[in-house]
Amino acid sequence: MRIIQTTQSLRTWRRRHDPLRTSIGLVPTMGALHAGHRSLIQRARRTCGTVVVSIFVNPLQFGPAEDYRRYPRDLSQDLACCREENVDLVFIPKLETLYPQDFQTTVAVRTLSRRWEGEYRPTHFEGVTTVVTKLLNLVRPAHAFFGQKDYQQCCVIRQLVQDLDLDTRVTLCPTIRDADGFALSSRNHYVTKSQRQRALALYQALSAGKAAIAGGMRRADLVEKNMAKVLNAGPGLTIDYLACCDARTLEPLSRLRGTVVLLGAIRIGGVRFIDNLIVRVPQ
Ligand code: PAF
Repeated sequence: MRIIQTTQSLRTWRRRHDPLRTSIGLVPTMGALHAGHRSLIQRARRTCGTVVVSIFVNPLQFGPAEDYRRYPRDLSQDLACCREENVDLVFIPKLETLYPQDFQTTVAVRTLSRRWEGEYRPTHFEGVTTVVTKLLNLVRPAHAFFGQKDYQQCCVIRQLVQDLDLDTRVTLCPTIRDADGFALSSRNHYVTKSQRQRALALYQALSAGKAAIAGGMRRADLVEKNMAKVLNAGPGLTIDYLACCDARTLEPLSRLRGTVVLLGAIRIGGVRFIDNLIVRVPQ
C-alpha cells in the first residue's frame, strides 16, 4: 500500500497510472474509519482495479462553533484498516497542502445546499464541494463512493459532478447500521451511552414513516406527524427537521409518489444526529 502526502507526488503517481488502464475508485474520508467506510472501500475494491482512499479532516466544512478540533483522529488505525481492505493508495494531505496561505477559490452548489443541513450548517456544503472538487481533480477517478448516511451530501456531490462536467461516476452506498438500526458515524466516538439510546428514536421514527407509507399513507404531513410522535421531542431532544422529500431534488412533498427520502436531524445534549431512509412508494 502506497502512502502519498503531497499533491506533486499524487500527480506523478496519477500520470504513471494512466497507461495501466485500470479504473480508479476514490473513497474520500475524514478518517476515524469504521465499518461504514470499510463497506465503501469494499465496494470500490469490487468495482475498480485501483482503490484510493483519502484521509483529510477538512476544516472548510466545519462551522466556527463546530467540532473541527475534537473530530476523532486515529491515523494508525485508519492505515491498518486500509491495509486490511487491500487499498492501493492512501492520500493524506497536510492542511497547508490542500489550503496554502493564498488559497481563495471555493465551489458551491447553490440550490441543493440551501435546505435541511444547509439551514443548520450554512457553510458546510461549500466546504465539502470545494474539497471534493480538489480531490476529484487530483485523483481523476472513474468512480467515487459515498455513504447514504449523508444523503444530502451525495445529492450535492452528484450535482457538482454533473455541473462541472467531471468524468467521475458517483456511487451511493447503503448506510451501515448496528444491529438495533443505529447508523454508524465517526462522530459516534463522542456520543454517550444514554445519548445513543435516546438517538436511536430517529431511526425508529424514520422506520415508522416508511411503514406508514408501505401501509398506504400518501399525505406527507401525516407521515411526518407519525414520525414526530415516535421521536417524542421534549426536554433533551430537539428536532431540527423531519421531512418527506423528493429523493432527487430534496424538495419537500405534500403527496408521496415515486422515490421519496425521509430525512431527519435531531439534537441531544449538543450532539447532532442525522439519518435518512429511501422509500419507493408503491403505485
Ligand atoms: O463524508 C465525509 O466524510 C466528508 O464530508 C468528505 C466527503 C470526505 C469531504 O470532506
